[in-house]
Amino acid sequence: MSKNFDVIVIGAGPGGYIAAIRAAQLGFQVACIDEWKNDTGGPAPGGTCTNVGCIPSKALLQSSEHFEQAGHHFADHGIGVSGLSIDVSKMVARKDSVVKQNNDGILYLFKKNKVSFFHGRGSFVKAVDGGYEIRVEGQSAEVLTGRQIVVATGSNARALPGAPFDEDKVLSNDGALRIGAVPKKLGLIGSGVIGLEMGSVWRRLGADVTILEGLPTFLGSVDQQIAKEAHKAFTKQGLNIELGVTVGDVKISKKGVTIAWTDAKGAAQKLEVDKLIVSIGRVPNTTGLNAEGVGLQLDERGAILVNEECKTNLPGVWAVGDVVRGPMLAHKAEEEGVAVAERIAGQHGHVNFNTIPWVIYTSPEIAWVGRTEQQLKADGVAYKAGTFPFLANGRARALGDTTGMVKFLADATTDEILGVHIVGPMASELIAEAVVAMEFRASAEDIARICHAHPSLSEATKEAALAVDKRTLNF
Ligand code: FAD
Ligand code: NAI
Repeated sequence: MSKNFDVIVIGAGPGGYIAAIRAAQLGFQVACIDEWKNDTGGPAPGGTCTNVGCIPSKALLQSSEHFEQAGHHFADHGIGVSGLSIDVSKMVARKDSVVKQNNDGILYLFKKNKVSFFHGRGSFVKAVDGGYEIRVEGQSAEVLTGRQIVVATGSNARALPGAPFDEDKVLSNDGALRIGAVPKKLGLIGSGVIGLEMGSVWRRLGADVTILEGLPTFLGSVDQQIAKEAHKAFTKQGLNIELGVTVGDVKISKKGVTIAWTDAKGAAQKLEVDKLIVSIGRVPNTTGLNAEGVGLQLDERGAILVNEECKTNLPGVWAVGDVVRGPMLAHKAEEEGVAVAERIAGQHGHVNFNTIPWVIYTSPEIAWVGRTEQQLKADGVAYKAGTFPFLANGRARALGDTTGMVKFLADATTDEILGVHIVGPMASELIAEAVVAMEFRASAEDIARICHAHPSLSEATKEAALAVDKRTLNF
């Protein structure tokens, strides 16, 4: 096998493996290096997303939602369930097999696209004439040479100062996805995306869940009308969310974890739990890359410094995904990976940061694209808003899932869609229509004039677009 490549990608998460495949499609000789090991020490490409992120969390969310439905909602449909039980180890084993299918799928895609995969840690050795030497340290060590290098080394969970992850009692996202039995009491620090998704999984399975959030506002970056609706639903389900807290000492004992905290009114409190998940954000990962050895510049957060085209300060070195600025989302990483491969080929790779959707896979789901009402106010933009509740949607009633709404924000003068925000059933799928509309710079009226299938949840999207012009038909 040749050790000289046109493109070497370090990291096979969604940013890296997609960049490698796209570069190979464009005719380059490509190597992709990834160090992630599965339980038997073999390669597990796919990064955080596949191994300890998007995919396993969605598998557990699905299983736990089935349990919740069987236990609490089947009866509404006249379906009786007796002897309902949960086998957590089987649920976790199913999750693991879903992960493995995805790992294997990526290895297959590498073969199909003739990407040379190297299992081990990649690091810069030095710049050489027309490229860089990259060392791979796995079961053996070797040095590859690449004309262009794409760094896609991802991110790691941020630990709470004074409470390092032991993945037994104090858990990152990794440990949170491997809990072997339902804890009686579960604590989470941070009511962001992971806090809400993981808190939901273990609450549905029977844990008594408390989430301690530092900020006084729930989901501050989400449209606040949507966030309030979601907060109401989560509280009703039994998630105990404490806002505006200050977390103090965290003490680990044989029995569990004790967290000292101060509530929003300044009163000292104590939370005793069996396990604690710390989900307070993630930090870019450049460990072991020898960035400093070749003079690769990082910003003050430790992210690789890139321009809008994902170019670093070093000629021929690019960086994409969680290791650079921007939202830490798998689809953002993928878009950057494709764009960089195309730029290397001299094409005009393109990522539209204004139309990157966000989804929180709780129940109800929360999804949005574009600006929130509070952002439009802060930006001084004149806008019109239209909302439509799922309560008035026939399909949602038939599903028995009428929580939430679709909300449109459109420019007051031009009617261009500026943001779409959804809390409710299948919000993760419904948001795609809004993303397409915004990418084509559609107006709210464009959506209102399009025929939507009946009965479908997507009719709520059409009706919310009609609501911008105060002419809903079913509400
Ligand atoms: P990563 O996926 O982190 O991949 C980086 C890869 O590089 C890893 O395999 C790592 O082993 C490897 N690596 C690092 N350094 C080296 C080195 N020196 N040599 C060789 N290999 C190296 N995003 C969504 O869009 N939707 C979701 O539903 C979602 N759910 C999530 C749930 C959880 C619990 C978590 C933690 C994250 C979730 N995310 C989700 C975020 C998503 O996982 C990340 O945004 C995405 O994985 C970033 O992709 P990446 O390619 O930049 O990095
Ligand atoms: P997050 O940024 O979503 O939320 C962290 C929360 O912790 C914030 O609300 C913050 O105010 C709070 N916080 C920070 N420090 C604190 C402290 N000391 N005490 C109390 N609260 C504190 O980060 P999270 O949930 O860890 O997820 C990391 C990232 O992973 C997300 O931002 C997202 O990019 C990605 N992700 C995406 C998912 C999706 O797309 N569905 C699912 C899970 C993660």
